[in-house]
Amino acid sequence: MINSIEWNGSSVRFLDQTQLPDAEVYTETNDLDVLIDAINRLKVRGAPLLGITAAYGVLLGTHSAIDASAETFKNRVESAAASIAATRPTAVNLFWSLERMRKILRLNSSDTPKMLFEKLKAEAVAIHTEDRTMCEAMGKAGAELIPNGASILTHCNTGALATGGIGTAFGVLFSAHHSGKKIHVYADETRPLLQGARLTMWELQKEGIPATLITDNAAAWTMKSKKIDLVITGADRIAVNGDTANKIGTYNLAVLAKEHNIPFYIVAPSSTIDPAIPSGDQMIIEERSADEVINGFGKRTAPVDSDVFSPAFDVTPNTLISGIITETGVHTAPYHRLVSR
Ligand code: MRU
Repeated sequence: MINSIEWNGSSVRFLDQTQLPDAEVYTETNDLDVLIDAINRLKVRGAPLLGITAAYGVLLGTHSAIDASAETFKNRVESAAASIAATRPTAVNLFWSLERMRKILRLNSSDTPKMLFEKLKAEAVAIHTEDRTMCEAMGKAGAELIPNGASILTHCNTGALATGGIGTAFGVLFSAHHSGKKIHVYADETRPLLQGARLTMWELQKEGIPATLITDNAAAWTMKSKKIDLVITGADRIAVNGDTANKIGTYNLAVLAKEHNIPFYIVAPSSTIDPAIPSGDQMIIEERSADEVINGFGKRTAPVDSDVFSPAFDVTPNTLISGIITETGVHTAPYHRLVSR
């Protein structure tokens, strides 16, 4: 399986996803600024992977301070967490993970910096390992919903490139395929940064899962003409009422799925549920630069001065969601019951 990120003692090694599918290039760094730049440029991406990256980022920001005073070390943790929190606002996993790291600091306030660093490292590795385990459980639970012979439509990238394990929505496809079911996946290319075309198709091919790439605007016609049995996507943040932020275009799919009577499922670990926001109205939606639309991948596709609105995510209302699959199983509305678990 692809290891999208790992902690190497005093540095982080990550797969630069902007170079896929052309080249599998890994970057190794002990510089937090390099990792922050990688997050901003989507070299590392996907909600659960952002959570794992944030935790390793705290280690990068603090490892040179283990011989400093306790106060200096604690300030380093806080400033690393603040810089990481200022990168991408929508994926709650990033903030959830930083909060876990801060909690280590609070619970062990009389420890030396060396002891604290060891505990932070253990926590970061635990965040990574737990995500792998949650992916397995979601994959298993979700695969039960997939009939043999199913055609499944998915969006963006939700596999090993986006998580610490087999993936969220992709993990369901992975589990169904490896359990011997015959499935066919339709992958949306996912404009503007093409995570579906570049990353999901790459992962599907690596796993030998039969798949067809479609442009985003072919989704309705694909549902109509190709007998899609199920739509499954991941999530970047789920509100208490089940409203779900995910890659821009997910909401379109949910509306279209309803029109075509196709079940629409979200797959996400509990680290993607935000107990602090009651509904999708409180989601913060990241907006990306106009250049990614006007000049995507170095080719100008619109006049230079075009006004552009490029939200990276949208919010699918809970009413359009057939179920949310987490590591604890398949859940239907009302979704607030997920929060107390
Ligand atoms: O902008 P990205 O590539 O980080 O967006 C990723 C997504 O929207 C995924 O669908 C989501 O994070 C779930 S990944 C398991």
